[in-house]
Amino acid sequence: MPGSETVAVTGKKIILGVTGGIAAYKAAELCRLLVKAGADVDVVMTDAARQFVTPLTFQALSGRPVQTSLWDAAQGDGMEHIHLTRAADLLLVAPASADFLAKLAQGRADDLLTTLCLARTCRLAVAPAMNPEMWAAAPTRRNLDRLRADGVAVLGPATGEMACGETGPGRMLEPAELMAALPGLLGAGPLAGKKVLVTAGPTFEPIDPVRGLTNRSSGRMGYAVAQAAAEAGAEVCLVSGPTCLATPAGVRRVDVQSAADMREAVLRELPAAVFIAVAAVADYRAAAAAEHKLKKQGGGLTLELVENPDILAEVAARSDAPFCVGFAAETERLAEHADAKRRRKQLPLLVGNLAQDTLGRADAELVLFDDHGSHFLPRADKLTQARRLIDHLVQRLS
Ligand code: C5P
Repeated sequence: MPGSETVAVTGKKIILGVTGGIAAYKAAELCRLLVKAGADVDVVMTDAARQFVTPLTFQALSGRPVQTSLWDAAQGDGMEHIHLTRAADLLLVAPASADFLAKLAQGRADDLLTTLCLARTCRLAVAPAMNPEMWAAAPTRRNLDRLRADGVAVLGPATGEMACGETGPGRMLEPAELMAALPGLLGAGPLAGKKVLVTAGPTFEPIDPVRGLTNRSSGRMGYAVAQAAAEAGAEVCLVSGPTCLATPAGVRRVDVQSAADMREAVLRELPAAVFIAVAAVADYRAAAAAEHKLKKQGGGLTLELVENPDILAEVAARSDAPFCVGFAAETERLAEHADAKRRRKQLPLLVGNLAQDTLGRADAELVLFDDHGSHFLPRADKLTQARRLIDHLVQRLS
């Protein structure tokens, strides 16, 4: 059976923009994967990109001439830049250099690729690739904020070792990861047209301006669920407590700290078709967070805690409730506790796991509980588990 990205991409017209960076060599593999999945690919290269890879490479892979200049393209009626974008379903720039992002943020059109971006009517996605210092630099941050506000999808970057020998965020996502983001960008896949709201990570409940209560959730499972939902074509909003994870491709992220912030953000994002509550929301918060840092006074300190609102139960009880999925981390008698929780919170689907086997780990063993009984998902990495969960959810929704 073909994967969801093949289904999404077959017959689609994609402009692949390549800018100047060492990751340009990976764009060749991306081009190959796009063609293999059945897309019609027009490659447009900047002058700087041609310093890294030759147009002939992309011509051979795409089976079409590669466009490199605004002036070559001005053959025929001289409106090639307009015609190209009108026919396209998606303009994907990979790699997108810091310089290219700066030009894009300013709306400049001084070569064929920037002109296509400005003239386009289709969706635009960029896969940044640069040195970690360039990625962290204030102008790059400003440019990305502006591009996101303009509706440009920013895919990655990943964190890892760079060609320059440094390590940090700035590495272009792998071609296969970019392919996985395509159903969401093309509005295809089994969750196309559906909004999926996901909570992830821990919450941080302040005690005073410098201290707080939190837990050991890494956020990995929630981020994987958000990614899997985006891969299935959903419009995904990820409401995240404090984590150090990168936002998955094609996902809109809203950062929060406390359970109260998380509740507010979730309610603001409703209505949605699906709500998947993965966050490890703190059950209690300080009754009153101190305005100033608490000082040692000798002896003990008694902290009064009050219960936090249960976000999932509140959303599930609404008259316009989305299809609600809960997570239950138990330390013993998983089936009994998880099923009781599902009934108490009135959830169509609950994902159970043993906390000691899952928290902070890269893999997990899960059990899905719904009206049809329980369904075991044997141990696998969290992204694989998230994709299995989304497959199960798609079946339940239909
Ligand atoms: O009751 P318990 O905390 O074990 O329930 C876990 C499920 O409920 C998770 O899906 C979690 O995200 C959600 N939850 C919530 N708000 C809370 C507590 C838990 O949304 N205050």
